[in-house]
Amino acid sequence: MASTFPDLVVSYLKSLENRGIVQIPIDDEARSVLRKWVISARAAKASISPTLAKLPPRPIPDPPPSSNEANDELSDTSRNTISSLRALLTETPQEMPEENNQPNLTIPELAGNSLEENLTALRLIAERWQPARILGTLRETMVFATGNPHTDLMLIGEAPGFQEERLREPFVGPAGEKLNAILKAMGRSRDSIYISNIVKFRPSLPHQTTNNRAPNEREIAYCLPIIAKEIELIRPKVIVALGATAAKGLLGTTSPLSTLRGRFHYFRGVPVRVTYHPSYLLRNEELSERRKVWEDMLAVMELLGMPISDKQREYFRPKQH
Ligand code: URA
Repeated sequence: MASTFPDLVVSYLKSLENRGIVQIPIDDEARSVLRKWVISARAAKASISPTLAKLPPRPIPDPPPSSNEANDELSDTSRNTISSLRALLTETPQEMPEENNQPNLTIPELAGNSLEENLTALRLIAERWQPARILGTLRETMVFATGNPHTDLMLIGEAPGFQEERLREPFVGPAGEKLNAILKAMGRSRDSIYISNIVKFRPSLPHQTTNNRAPNEREIAYCLPIIAKEIELIRPKVIVALGATAAKGLLGTTSPLSTLRGRFHYFRGVPVRVTYHPSYLLRNEELSERRKVWEDMLAVMELLGMPISDKQREYFRPKQH
């Protein structure tokens, strides 16, 4: 029988081991490409997943640039031993797609005794979330959430970017700085709210360095059970969906963001206010755009019964001529 690509790679890795080479450099993207090839080859062999079999293999990326991030990945030596790579290529994935070609999107029952324990359990599930791995279009590092789970206010963005993946915390890059400024104007700190993303993995791009992209519909759908469970656990009084991607995921709509603003929507009974993503404000600094986001936040503050001063009500109001 003809050898598959993973079979050939495994025998090449064995030949390296036989020559005493125990470690080779490989980054997350290459690892994800290899994994995808294994899954496609298995799906083709078993003829159970036309969807996955249809996905074209991505080319092996160029050697990574010499950014700190890439160096960090390459210096993660435990993951780069030949034996760990062989395991990657020969291990049985935890969950292959079901008969209907959908991966299993069910979150197992969480048996913790407290909110913290259940969130820790959910974080571990997210860490190994097979639907995201199967796609092969999301990077492997999982970025969970930050802040106070005992909160009335939950903010949901789209997905981690370069800085968030590096520091494993949502909104720590330039968009995060803008978000912090908005929170400060509201009189809230990051420690008093819970901040998460609709997708927990940085969407990948060919030859990716610091560049980011928004998650696509399938990536959002495959990750939605995680954020849905977070919302169920946190039970905030209100959610702010930061940007169209979060709104699309939570509300299942493709309506333009401008038409979703100005009223409360609901996700499983929890009020959701939709506003522009902080990175939109980095690109559009006009007072009028800042005021739009601020009006959304004033509505949220009112719903939460937060005190609002006259000065706060006037923030970012364009001057009348
Ligand atoms: N943008 C997002 O939507 N989320 C982050 O965590 C960072 C940037």
